[in-house]
Amino acid sequence: MDKMASLAKRRGFIYQSSEIYGGLNSCYDYGPLGIEMKKNIKEMWWRAMVYERPDIEGIDSSILMHPRIWEASGHVEGFTDPMVDCRACKNRFRADQLDNSDQCPVCGSKEMTEPRNFNLMFKTFMGPVEDSAHIVFLRPETAQGIYVNFHHVRESARKKVPFGIAQIGKAFRNEITPGNFTFRTREFEQMEMQFFVKPGDDDQWFEYWKNERLKWYQRLGIDAGKLSFHEHGPDELAHYAKKAVDIQYEFPFGTQEIEGIHNRTDYDLGRHQEYSGKDLRYFDDFNQEKYIPYIIETSIGCDRTLLTVLIDAYEEEAERTVLHLAPSIAPIKAAVFPLVKRDEMPEIAMKICDSLRGEYRVFYDESGSIGRRYRRQDEAGTPFCITVDTQTLDDKTITVRYRDSMEQERITIDRIRSFLADKLRM
Ligand code: GAP
Repeated sequence: MDKMASLAKRRGFIYQSSEIYGGLNSCYDYGPLGIEMKKNIKEMWWRAMVYERPDIEGIDSSILMHPRIWEASGHVEGFTDPMVDCRACKNRFRADQLDNSDQCPVCGSKEMTEPRNFNLMFKTFMGPVEDSAHIVFLRPETAQGIYVNFHHVRESARKKVPFGIAQIGKAFRNEITPGNFTFRTREFEQMEMQFFVKPGDDDQWFEYWKNERLKWYQRLGIDAGKLSFHEHGPDELAHYAKKAVDIQYEFPFGTQEIEGIHNRTDYDLGRHQEYSGKDLRYFDDFNQEKYIPYIIETSIGCDRTLLTVLIDAYEEEAERTVLHLAPSIAPIKAAVFPLVKRDEMPEIAMKICDSLRGEYRVFYDESGSIGRRYRRQDEAGTPFCITVDTQTLDDKTITVRYRDSMEQERITIDRIRSFLADKLRM
């Protein structure tokens, strides 16, 4: 993990937030390569969950919402972790993560407080008056913005149940024990889809989404052998869920959740109906009946996915460190090099680069030996390196070097575009 975090910083994937001020714990910034990769992951999710589906629409709801939403959702009352403090060293722990909550795991002191429930929502004030009537929350999940827009989307997109609403956006949780780099942070991005179904059809749709979501990880290029399902026992279920399955990955620090698939029943729409006083039932005109739809949710963290992909792709070989990223999510798609800085090779290479720029993120590099240039791109996960050499001057062909196998192929310059289009299909 340390080596990966150091590569992530060195190459511009992920930096510690506010580092020049000593850093802000559990907040991270994405650099030039990280932002490209994040954008590619979001695009891949959006493609699978919205573009390829006739039955899902997208939205983007606001982060600040009416505070009653969080009462209705159960977050004001129930979105808590039990916390204990060490009176001696002042460290704070999640009581449910300690083997013995009577003794501090850091300093060994037995001066521990009683477990207290700590609400994970960040609070702020709306407007100039800082009193309890003006409290608003930074959303701890994007899902609620979908529920309160259920009928708007249904009407404007003319959808009939079953259908889904997808959203990508920031969520905030004042986690007691953030850590493992970007695995658990206090500000993160979620990619959530809420699928509204007829009660009674929910078990079948739950199984459907469980399998669909697992399939998606193949596109990401993650080692299927490191993925598994974990079904929640009764004591693990969130306050809204009837059934929940995590998709887990074998991280270096243990097997942990990347995505949750939840059967939220009619809990959310039922509670919003109760708290808002608005009729949120769906009218099924075919069967002439009204009901509150059940919700099957798929919820994945974008930052956690990016971390998983980086860890899965990282390999140290004898001669190089390489990120075996799927070409479609690699930040830079191709690097273009002149073999040497003479005989018009730089001009031709730059021209190739210019012709690809705009459609693909490409990188021109003429400094250092060709071997060093290849190694730098291997570490950034660039799947293809295009080299202009002496033969190019004679026959207008270039070499394409494959990152993983390091094999090379000669193609004509006019075929580069179709070559990339073919290899980069999501
Ligand atoms: N709407 C349901 C929900 O939010 P969750 O299991 O609490 O469910 C879903 O979160 C996903 O969001 C997780 O599987 C994880 O990928 C991501 N996530 C949750 N908390 C996170 C945190 N503190 N830091 C990074 N990602 C987090």
